[in-house]
Amino acid sequence: MTASALSGRIALVTGSSGAIGQAVLRHLREQGARAVGADLHGRPLLDVDRPWEGEPVALDVRSKPQLLALVDSLRQSLGPVDTLVNVAGVVSFGSAQDLAEAEWDRVIDINLKGSFLAVQAVIPGMRELGFGRIVNLGSVVGKNSGNARPWISPDEQHRAGNVAYGVSKAGIHSMTGFLARELACHGITVNAVAPGPIATEMTTDFPAALRALIPRGRMGTAEDVVRAVGFLIQRESDFITGEVLDVNGGMWSD
Ligand SMILES: NC(=O)c1ccc[n+]([C@@H]2O[C@H](COP(=O)([O-])OP(=O)(O)OC[C@H]3O[C@@H](n4cnc5c(N)ncnc54)[C@H](O)[C@@H]3O)[C@@H](O)[C@H]2O)c1
Repeated sequence: MTASALSGRIALVTGSSGAIGQAVLRHLREQGARAVGADLHGRPLLDVDRPWEGEPVALDVRSKPQLLALVDSLRQSLGPVDTLVNVAGVVSFGSAQDLAEAEWDRVIDINLKGSFLAVQAVIPGMRELGFGRIVNLGSVVGKNSGNARPWISPDEQHRAGNVAYGVSKAGIHSMTGFLARELACHGITVNAVAPGPIATEMTTDFPAALRALIPRGRMGTAEDVVRAVGFLIQRESDFITGEVLDVNGGMWSD
């Protein structure tokens, strides 16, 4: 990709205060896009002159009014958002037996519903353009129904379970397919990237025994994820839609 490969593009990246979101945002800006970061931890939108520069603006992806206000404000200052990367997400652990109902709701609301609401907010502008690129962040655990647990005893299952997180990401994969088929006729592609363990804050206590099971022999990096996202958002990737692209060092394939 040349330095101006994304010149003229207007992008929104949610969850862009986190490791992967930051790296995606940096990449889009380096490639010439006017890319706006948005995160629960961000600057109030009203205080921001040029949201495609600097720190992310404040956004809770669970709030449809906030999403609509942000997308509308970008439309007025720049034009319709043509690229959405849904990175915002939370991880969650706990056995199925003990998982609090509120925790289930929190994880599904942020990871799955939040991504859907962000898509809803950008569809009208993309349809107007007859062009759009949407990439959702899934996960290997949305495919493999949870990592193998070779290190764990029955007594430790409580902290190792992650059914809410896995189901939210399986939902992302499924939603990606539905949206891809619905939006293809408008020139909008919808894909997902499904990372394996990426070395970020989310995985600081990732067990060594599980790391040893990654065939590539290392944890992934945010840049590994960025390369996949960067490929999928290219204008030239027009015939790729509904794909869930594994970035997991060989941990799982289907
Ligand atoms: N790190 C990994 O190993 C890994 C593996 C597979 C998938 N993923 C997915 O990649 C994405 C990014 O992961 P990361 O490692 O950078 O995590 P991270 O915790 O560093 O970043 C997540 C970001 O999302 C933001 N966020 C949380 N709730 C939000 C909300 N309601 N509204 C707006 N923003 C919100 C957080 O503030 C944070 O900045 C997540 O969706 C995660 O599930 C990560």
